[in-house]
Amino acid sequence: MMSEVAEKPANSSQTATEAETLESCEQLDLEEEEICFQDIDMLIDQGVSINDIKCLKDIGINTIKGLQMTVRKILRSLKGFDEAKIDKIMEACCKVSVNSGFVTALEVMDQRKEIFKLQTGSSNLDNLLGGGIESMAITEVFGEFGTGKTQLSHTLCVTAQIPDSNGYLGAHKHSRPHRLKPIAERFNLDPTSVLENVLYARAYTSEHQYQLLGNIGAKLHEEPGIFKLLIVDSVMALFRVDFSGRAELAERQQKLGRTMSKLQKLSEEFGVAVLVTNQITSDLGEAEAAKPVGGNVLAHSSTTRVALKKGKGNRRVASVYDSPDLEESEASFAITKGGIDDPEH
Ligand SMILES: Nc1ncnc2c1ncn2[C@@H]1O[C@H](COP(=O)(O)OP(=O)(O)O)[C@@H](O)[C@H]1O
Ligand SMILES: [Mg+2]
Repeated sequence: MMSEVAEKPANSSQTATEAETLESCEQLDLEEEEICFQDIDMLIDQGVSINDIKCLKDIGINTIKGLQMTVRKILRSLKGFDEAKIDKIMEACCKVSVNSGFVTALEVMDQRKEIFKLQTGSSNLDNLLGGGIESMAITEVFGEFGTGKTQLSHTLCVTAQIPDSNGYLGAHKHSRPHRLKPIAERFNLDPTSVLENVLYARAYTSEHQYQLLGNIGAKLHEEPGIFKLLIVDSVMALFRVDFSGRAELAERQQKLGRTMSKLQKLSEEFGVAVLVTNQITSDLGEAEAAKPVGGNVLAHSSTTRVALKKGKGNRRVASVYDSPDLEESEASFAITKGGIDDPEH
């Protein structure tokens, strides 16, 4: 997809030098891509065996960064991975890695320039979020049934594909793809290709959900720079079914932490935006404001938390619940046939 964009100017009227310049630009783009997605196969040159690399790939570690993000405990559980082998692999990883650990604040600023924001369909909501749903971060949207969490997910699957927003593909996990058609039409995109560009998987248990995230990692690695968005619609739903009561709470939170950490890593490793939707506690009295479920684990892993409330008719109100750099304010939006939109005045 990306190369299609780059190929366009290569028409017959070009001079040889123009073509050469273009070629070297493309070369640079490719090199840049390689730096962002350093393949784990690079370790072969450092003396790591093909077999060991295969073991790493089997558990979803495909990039140098992915390996650096993996704790030793996980590596120890692999067949034949003793401390000496792990030391050797981690050393090799350090040698080839473009990421030396420390960077200057200026470099951090530069890296942040690559961050993009996906439009929500409502300019009010985009403004509230400082421009839209941010990449390399987790945005959590929570609210009671019917507040528009899934409609927002659908809309983002389409807006991620608006060429100007740099967005092409989205991957998400929820039903009713037919909703994408009218939304695509609203944004003047071809509904069939929009649907083709969205990957969907249904998780049946919280363990399965975690496994699917591993599969997504492999997919993101296979097609670097193509996917822009990962949505988990109702991240807590399966955890609430699989673990019940106080006795299982600690285990639930531990497994939830593992899932959220995986999402965080995917967002950083592949530069995608992550949106999770969440439910609210139902057992509170009227006086108390509705709170998202998932406790501290979810609170600490979401970068931006947005509360949704019902308004009159198709109107909804969003407010920032907990954010390091956004003001706590409100925005109203509407749910329409064409997805999330600004309300009519
Ligand atoms: N095609 C549509 N046109 C207009 N409104 C719709 C359409 N589809 C769903 N809605 C509205 O979206 C709301 C449900 O939003 P949804 O995102 O499914 O809620 P949540 O996921 O938060 O439970 C309902 O109020 C419904 O009327
Ligand atoms: Mg929903």
